Amino acid sequence: MPHELNPVRAIARSNIALAKYWGKADVDLNLPAVPSLSLTLDELVTETEVEFEPSLARDELHLDGREAPDHETGRVTQLLNRVRSRAEIPYFARVRSENRFPTAAGLASSASGFAALAAAASRAANLELTSESMSTLARQSSASAARSVFGGFVELDAGVPGEGGLGARQVAAADHWDVRLVVAITATGPKSVGSTEAMTRSKRTSPFYAAWVDAAPRWFDEVKSAVARRDLERLGQAMEQSTLAFHACAMTSLPSTVYWGPGTMDALNTVRSLRAAGTSVWATMDAGPHVKALCETRDSTKIRDALLGARGVHEVIVASPGRGVEVIG
Ligand code: DP6
Repeated sequence: MPHELNPVRAIARSNIALAKYWGKADVDLNLPAVPSLSLTLDELVTETEVEFEPSLARDELHLDGREAPDHETGRVTQLLNRVRSRAEIPYFARVRSENRFPTAAGLASSASGFAALAAAASRAANLELTSESMSTLARQSSASAARSVFGGFVELDAGVPGEGGLGARQVAAADHWDVRLVVAITATGPKSVGSTEAMTRSKRTSPFYAAWVDAAPRWFDEVKSAVARRDLERLGQAMEQSTLAFHACAMTSLPSTVYWGPGTMDALNTVRSLRAAGTSVWATMDAGPHVKALCETRDSTKIRDALLGARGVHEVIVASPGRGVEVIG
């Protein structure tokens, strides 16, 4: 039994996959079917405090200042249970989590949330985890969260069914390459279908899913070697194919999952026009309608202004490479 249990706060930043994860090799162990490679972003931060408390009768979760309903606490409790059983702590926990995102428009991410929770909960339980074990703990709740444990450019292998120890690894630190992701917000409100559910549908029903799982490792390899060489054009081409291919799986599943809205096309067309006019800028979209444009830092102001002028774009954030998870108190 631990003698002293103090509250611990941690911050983690969101990440955007340049080579996407979509689909699971093992649903129970939450193992990805394909390898992915991401960039952790400085501007999109979640701060989470965890305190194990003998007087509590259940886990309490406060998200952005309000008490979270039961259906939102399930995955949090699962992570806490893993920590409790490892540290042999019999107490429930109070969890306070806040997204310090520059906008409320559907960017809030499970990646930064579960990475911050894994760091705060394990430290609050006095567990000394390596970064890789912390990444494994985060990945069990949400695979993209495994990558937010690390800063800069981060890879997560495909999982092997039945082998639950998978964690992410840093490929290059945040200062390896001075790029920007210009995030175009094209809608307000939460996404229509959660990514876990949409992945399950894709695997069960999309005729494109097998082709996706077959091709994704090649885009991953391309992205990884382009990152190593700081080759934006090569990275951009593979990144766009990766995102369009996973969206094609989602769109062709039953029922169909279409994350794009009209603003998505407006932003994509803006990126393509800029490129046709000679700027090296490349787009990626996650399980939502927003468009993230990857570019050299020197081009980011021009790209931000062009995206701000696109019809369906509400707001634009210019994000830079960021650090991994940090325990702050
Ligand atoms: C499209 O990590 O949210 O953003 O593991 O089921 O929680 P779960 O899924 P999640 O999926 C992210 C999907 C994506 C691509 C990516 O980040 O690689």
